[in-house]
Amino acid sequence: MAEILQISNLSEHIYRVRLVAPRIAKRRKAGQFVIVRVTPDGERIPLTIANASAEEGWIELIIQAVGESTRVLRDMQVGDHLEDLAGPLGRATKVEKVGRVLCIGGGVGIAPLRPIAEAFKAAGNHVTTILGARTSDLIILRDDMDQISDELYIATDDGSAGEKGFPTDIFARLLDTGNTYDEAVVVGPPVMMKFTSLKTLDAGVPTMCSLNPIMIDGTGMCGGCRVTVAGEPRFACVDGPEFDAASVEWDDLLNRLSGYDKIAERNHTCRIGTDEK
Ligand SMILES: Cc1cc2nc3c(=O)[nH]c(=O)nc-3n(C[C@H](O)[C@H](O)[C@H](O)COP(=O)(O)OP(=O)(O)OC[C@H]3O[C@@H](n4cnc5c(N)ncnc54)[C@H](O)[C@@H]3O)c2cc1C
Ligand code: FES
Repeated sequence: MAEILQISNLSEHIYRVRLVAPRIAKRRKAGQFVIVRVTPDGERIPLTIANASAEEGWIELIIQAVGESTRVLRDMQVGDHLEDLAGPLGRATKVEKVGRVLCIGGGVGIAPLRPIAEAFKAAGNHVTTILGARTSDLIILRDDMDQISDELYIATDDGSAGEKGFPTDIFARLLDTGNTYDEAVVVGPPVMMKFTSLKTLDAGVPTMCSLNPIMIDGTGMCGGCRVTVAGEPRFACVDGPEFDAASVEWDDLLNRLSGYDKIAERNHTCRIGTDEK
């Protein structure tokens, strides 16, 4: 049972939830996530640890209210308790002093990017961040990322904040003006990660990405989060969620995710554990 300490709205459908979780706050590293069950009969859903304080004993989650569990969580109040919270899970980001690091985040992917950028900065790297979203209201954590980064650029599809266009347009301009990068981290919707990492890899920058396949048990047992990396099956919950973008088979991931969308559209009701036939 984890108590809600704070809950606030960051943009349309995106909320910041601070929870009492001293053990997780002490052990968590950049790149790791928790699995949450909001109510006793709810599903287990993975959410990145976007921020934490070991001293004060809390962790922060940034949720995009897209379905049943995230909407119930959004509607909870300070003082309410989540049914359960497991973590920290997943492998931590490999953070070293490499020199100039480029962090590119899209949509709610800015939440997982935040602790990664913070860890690269703390390791002594020069951090350049590019955030992208459809419109100004959907850019989250702008102040946090501004404080963490040496340089911050914003791209919106409609030009309502920063520059009109995609993060890849800003990346191309930064390269044209002579900037170089030793490593890139790209986090966002899978299709954005696919096309953005094609550009960074094409420019010769080793690129990591944080994958978000459907997860069920988070232990490597159920196979739900299988992704193909360098031609081999990998489980994002225990082998990831971060992988070398050059080795990820993006079309396999995109096909698997769209397959789940079709199942969700059928409005299926689970009958496991009921008497219904
Ligand atoms: C390692 C990891 C970290 C994540 N971190 C965050 C985070 O910090 N904040 C956040 O808001 N979300 C995060 N997600 C995604 C989040 O787990 C899902 O959005 C969540 O499971 C939705 O639950 P729900 O019951 O509200 O929606 P559901 O009713 O289960 O789904 C609603 C819609 O979202 C789609 N969906 C569900 N899960 C995913 C997924 N994993 N990827 C893409 N689409 C999905 C469904 O197909 C459906 O269209 C993360 C996922 C992973 C694997
Ligand atoms: S969530 Fe079950 S194997 Fe990863």
